[in-house]
Amino acid sequence: RAAAKGGDLTRSFTAVRPNKRDAVTTAAGHTSSVVVRWGDPVVPGAVAFDAAAQTPAAARTQFGYNCDYVGVLPLVPGKPLGDDALLVVNHEYTDENLMFPAETYTDDEIKAVAIANHGMSVLQIRRGAAPGSWKRITPSSKTPKNRRIHAGTGFRLDGPAAGDERLRTAADPTGTLVRGTFGNCAGGMTPWGTVLSGEENFNGYFDKSGELDPRYTAEYARYGIAGSGKGWRSVDPRFDLTVEPHEPHRFGWIVEVDPHAPKMGPRKHTMLGRFKHEGANVIVSANGHAVVYMGDDERGDYLYKFVSAAKVDKRTNLAGRNANKELLTAGTLYVAKLTGDGSDDGQYDGTGRWLKLCTDTTSFVPGMSVADVLIFTRLAADKLAPTKMDRPEDVEPNPVNGRIYAALTNNSDRGKSTMPVDEANPLASSMVRTAPGAPLTSASGNRNGYVLEIAETGRLGHADRYFAWNLMLVCGDPAAAETWFGGFDKSQVSPISCPDNVSFDSAGNLWISTDGNVLGSNDGIFRVPVEGARRGQVLQFLTVPLGAEACGPLVTDSDRSLFFAVQHPGEITGATFEKQSSTWPHTDDFPRPSVCVAYVDR
Ligand code: FEO
Ligand code: CA
Ligand code: CA
Ligand code: CA
Repeated sequence: RAAAKGGDLTRSFTAVRPNKRDAVTTAAGHTSSVVVRWGDPVVPGAVAFDAAAQTPAAARTQFGYNCDYVGVLPLVPGKPLGDDALLVVNHEYTDENLMFPAETYTDDEIKAVAIANHGMSVLQIRRGAAPGSWKRITPSSKTPKNRRIHAGTGFRLDGPAAGDERLRTAADPTGTLVRGTFGNCAGGMTPWGTVLSGEENFNGYFDKSGELDPRYTAEYARYGIAGSGKGWRSVDPRFDLTVEPHEPHRFGWIVEVDPHAPKMGPRKHTMLGRFKHEGANVIVSANGHAVVYMGDDERGDYLYKFVSAAKVDKRTNLAGRNANKELLTAGTLYVAKLTGDGSDDGQYDGTGRWLKLCTDTTSFVPGMSVADVLIFTRLAADKLAPTKMDRPEDVEPNPVNGRIYAALTNNSDRGKSTMPVDEANPLASSMVRTAPGAPLTSASGNRNGYVLEIAETGRLGHADRYFAWNLMLVCGDPAAAETWFGGFDKSQVSPISCPDNVSFDSAGNLWISTDGNVLGSNDGIFRVPVEGARRGQVLQFLTVPLGAEACGPLVTDSDRSLFFAVQHPGEITGATFEKQSSTWPHTDDFPRPSVCVAYVDR
């Protein structure tokens, strides 16, 4: 049954029309099903979900809220996908207004349950009857890798900054053991069978009971840490900046989890720098090093890459895997500077350099130590004057052509005096609409986003410091003059707005999920070829329910399965548990964020 016939999702389909349905709508000839919902059991003996009787203890056994990154790994590392596989998902944040029947919970109960709904889930899944379909199986002693990583799970800090004084707290005087992970956004699977996940909007979790520590005024400011969090200090004092000024320094890292070692604590890699990490994706360079591409999702922040000092161990046995799990602790961290070649050629393109920030032993930033650079990477990068980008989200190497694709989701500040346009961030205004069929109107800044394509041009390829770039997509409604679809006929493409996560099928086609569509309709997932006569032909493959963003996309199982996350269905201004705007997936009278799989409907 696992025979690889393949290719289904690389074939032609008719694009889904933009819509406002409270449903997942796939291209004709395809269907989708829910694999796992918020509250479903993850660990053996999990408490049955009851929206009216939620507890932190129950949540720590169940699938958390707001699934974002989606990885699918073979049950046995190094082997092809069998009939069972491991699904690895993170839980970015919580929508308390949609999660609780308000009258039955105290404020502190709500906070404690919300805290427990963050983290990650690892669970065994199984092929369904329809080719390409997958389903959740009941956790038991036969699913030994099922695991819920939550706010109490210990993470080991590793790399050059681990143990630094600025990472120490009362609970952890060593500065090496952090409880939990928050704001996890995108991620990636490594060639050695682990999963990376980015701690993104961690700044919003910290409150203050008094003054902020004056030692960190500039650092807090650059990271948006203002002490206006979610009030969690009333249930856990570590979220009080006045009490624990170093706790926020322990977040904003890339996390690595080995789903095949369920008893091994996950890690946070200081060598990959600290910022609002969207995610991290690895490619092995021609000379054998692990190269990690990363984005800092903030208006005007940067693209980064890391090249490991050691080479990837090609053995798939335990010794090889253990060696590779050290790769992200030593190497060189870079930030990108892009230079345009001018507008005469009618294209937004040019060349670029990766600027060295530090290695594990040497800082290249004047006045900053290696630990300074890694803990306050944004401030270090500022000193090298890299290119301020329009919110770098997923940055992912295409395994077929080796080029790098970065989603630059939008930037309402672009064009202001503080952030002038440049060739890589060219739009100071863009066309948007408020509802399907409403007229296009002009808004300031870059509102629909870009997809940036990077080709490494140095002799050492991905491990080198030189590249060429172009904006392959200038997103928006194809009727808007500013849009560009890789040169493809704009009358034959789908409107696309706010690219967020990217993925590739085995033919090298780019798959894009969106978050925050400003063209008046729901978010969704799109496919676009990057080579040949159809380069730039963006077609919408599916739309997600009201208020949701589409996350994750992962084409796998010989191109038969598209996994994706429906994050925050019903998240619309004014929506509450009683007055929700969505009830998707329509199994209750309130919405439940879920991971789904789409496949051919035979
Ligand atoms: Fe959590 Fe940058 O999206
Ligand atoms: Ca140009
Ligand atoms: Ca994202
Ligand atoms: Ca997003």
